[in-house]
Formats: sequence, structure tokens, C-alpha cells
Amino acid sequence: MPRSVIAGIGKYIPKNTVTNQDLTKYMDTSDEWIQERTGIQERHYAERTGETTATMGAAAAREAIDRAGITPQDIDFIVFATLSPDYYFPGCGVLVQRELKMKEIGALDIRNQCSGFVYALSVADQFIKTGMYKNILVIGSEKHSFGLDFSTRGRNISVIFGDGAGAIVLQPTEDDNRGLLSTHLHSDGNNAEILAMFNPGTHANHWTAAPLADFNDAEIGDMFMSHAMIDKAQNFPNMDGPTVFKIAVEKFPAVILEALEQNGYQPADLKILIPHQANLRISQFVQKKLRLGDDQVYNNIQHYGNTTAASVPIALCEAWEKGKIQEGDLVCLAAFGSGFTWASALLKW
Ligand code: ACO
Repeated sequence: MPRSVIAGIGKYIPKNTVTNQDLTKYMDTSDEWIQERTGIQERHYAERTGETTATMGAAAAREAIDRAGITPQDIDFIVFATLSPDYYFPGCGVLVQRELKMKEIGALDIRNQCSGFVYALSVADQFIKTGMYKNILVIGSEKHSFGLDFSTRGRNISVIFGDGAGAIVLQPTEDDNRGLLSTHLHSDGNNAEILAMFNPGTHANHWTAAPLADFNDAEIGDMFMSHAMIDKAQNFPNMDGPTVFKIAVEKFPAVILEALEQNGYQPADLKILIPHQANLRISQFVQKKLRLGDDQVYNNIQHYGNTTAASVPIALCEAWEKGKIQEGDLVCLAAFGSGFTWASALLKW
């Protein structure tokens, strides 16, 4: 059975840099608070119009495709991970298919938030291993800046997130010394509401979901996206930060160890760990727990913030561009996020 190998990798970072100091114009916060709690110094925001989750994903994809030495017409499947799609539906996969003028290939969208890219990679890996596809484009992209609460009410969340995209081209290899060794996917829906954006969503009675004759006037008044919902900030992400922290620092090390143990390795064998850039404090906690050296963990949240599904491929791409990953190196990708979902992938570069 062939293994999957990353044949090309790319990223796209919007030009507009937003410092912590810039955010103080909109909300009561400070550079000191943000850096102390999250490690973030700055993030990038996409253009308000014309630059979307799909266009950024397509830009990262172009770079990955070029570096793989192929053309968009060679791609035979797309897996696109995001929580900030251009449209409620259809998903971003088809928009990339259109933008890059690809053949009428399959396009799959993944909704696993911060774990989205590792989930997407795992899905693509199954198609490579079975021999169904030969050139799969896997993308993680987010435009968070369009939907954050930039008032003081939303400051515990809005200061954390940034925009950007990363992409890889996955191909089969028969080389036993390279490629994806295993992927590990987990979830626990008991904590679904701890980190969530509630509306619009079918849990609430805000769409005309049944014949209007079944409802009285008062109920009809409640059925639409109401000012009350907006006043309660239910159209923005909600997060119980301390609970996320507590569970993240338990699940991250567990899923990394699971990947290492399944393949007969120990943390010391890792050339580099690319964790989802959730929060620098979380990455530092994981590093300490696994007794990894500073050069074994790649962090770039300081400059991009948390880019959710894009954070792992952006960090992987940047680490590779800086020469921190060479052929044959043992690399672990790991993520944890809303759901909760968490996942890891172990590979020989
Ligand atoms: N600037 C200034 N003050 C702030 C800010 C801000 N941006 N945000 C919150 N505060 C204030 C609060 O109002 C509160 O003030 P009070 O004590 O007077 O009421 C105080 O700081 C503490 O508020 P908390 O919300 O409890 O903030 P906490 O200390 O927990 O820090 C943080 C928030 C950084 C998010 C922390 O909970 C954390 O690190 N959580 C981990 C989760 C995480 O990083 N998630 C990232 C996204 S999810 C993911 O990728 C998996």
C-alpha cells in the first residue's frame, strides 16, 4: 500500500498587520495583557472585500501546487478545512476548484475548527492509501476578522484570532523511509458549547422552519434572528477560555504520545512538533509536559495569532521554509479545538 507524502506546501498571509496596540483603538485591552496571556504580538487581517477564505486558500494552494512541480489541472481531489467559509453554503472547496480552473474533480469541506487541517489530512491520506487519487490538495484557511466582536465585550476572543491560509499537495510514495505514518482523530461533544458560535443555527427557533399557520404571533416574532440574539452576542464566537485551556493541555500531549507510541517513537525522537497555534501558553505547557527542547516545538502565534484551520499548515510551511525540516525528519502535527476535537499526524518528511 502506498504512503502519502507532502509533495508541495504553501501559505498565504494577508498584508495588513494589526498590532495589539492597534486593537486598543476599538476595545479596552493592552499589549501587555495580550502578550502575557497569549504570546500574541500581532496578527494579519484580510482586505475587507475581495479577499476571502477561498481566495486566500487558493493563493496558498497555488504556491503548494507550484512547489510540487504540477499544475492545478493535475489535482484530482480537494479537501478544504475552515470555520469561516465565504458562504453558509456551498463550501470553499468548490470556490477553489473554480478559481484555479481545475477539472470537475471532487471537493470536500471539513468542519472541525482548529483540528480541521489535521482531520482533512487524515481524510486525504485514506484516499491516497487506497489508490483512489494521486494529487490531493489539502487546504486550511480562515478569515476571522470579518466576524469577531471588536467591542470590549468580545475582547477575550477577538484579540486571539488572525487571518491566513496554508495548503499542501499530497501524493503517493512507495518509499518506506518517507511519508505519513499515522493519523489519530478524537472528539468529545459533551463540551460542544464551551467554544462555539451559536447563531445562525437550527438549535434556535429563528428560521421559518415550519408552516407559519402552526405558530401564534408571539412565536413568529421569536423565529427570526432577533436583536436579542445579537445583543447577547450569539452571532459571535463564545469561549470559556479557562476550560479550553484545562482540557487542551490534557488532550494535546495525549494525542501526540498516541502517535509516537503507535510508531515506536518517543518525544526525544521528534525533529519538530507543529502544534495548532492556539495560544503560546498552551504550546509551552505541552512542550514542558513532553520534555521537548525549544528547537523541537515550532511557534509562530506571536506574528499571526490563532488562525484555526490554517495554523498548522502555515506553521509547517514556515518551519520548512526556514530549513527547520529536512528530508527524513520525524514531524508531528497536533491540534485541539472546538467540539472538542483533537488530532495528530506523524510523518517522515
Ligand atoms: N484585554 C484585557 N483584559 C481582558 C481581555 C483583553 N483582551 N480579555 C479578558 N480580559 C479580562 C476579563 O474581562 C477579566 O477581567 P475581570 O477579572 O476584571 O473580570 C480578566 O481579564 C480575566 O478574564 P478571562 O476571560 O477569565 O481571561 P483569562 O484569564 O482566562 O484569559 C484567555 C483569557 C487568554 C483566552 C485564557 O482563558 C486562555 O488562555 N484560554 C485558553 C484558550 C485559548 O487560548 N483559546 C484560543 C482559541 S481556542 C483554540 O484554538 C483551541
